[in-house]
Amino acid sequence: MTGKKNSCIQFVILITIKKKTKMTIVKICLGSSCFARGNNQILTLLKQEIEAKKLNAMLEIVGCRCSNLCADGPNVFVDEKKYTHVTAQDIPSILESIHG
Ligand code: FES
Repeated sequence: MTGKKNSCIQFVILITIKKKTKMTIVKICLGSSCFARGNNQILTLLKQEIEAKKLNAMLEIVGCRCSNLCADGPNVFVDEKKYTHVTAQDIPSILESIHG
């Protein structure tokens, strides 16, 4: 695989319930820089919060290789929206964008 569009590896699919038909794609950069800066923990926290809040959304979580935005990392992408310098404190706003 080459190129950014093909650089994601699907590793988890969470589908929580019902009425929404639009699939939200959450991409978590798991390149070495973002991983070392905490995206491994962000992934765990996101999954825990999604399960705890029982979001009414269909979403797919994928891990991505480095997208050459390391200086801004850890990076998380929700559809077209980019979250940079992500910490645990950003999880509520990330979940809001999934839910909204
Ligand atoms: S490791 Fe995440 S952008 Fe490079």
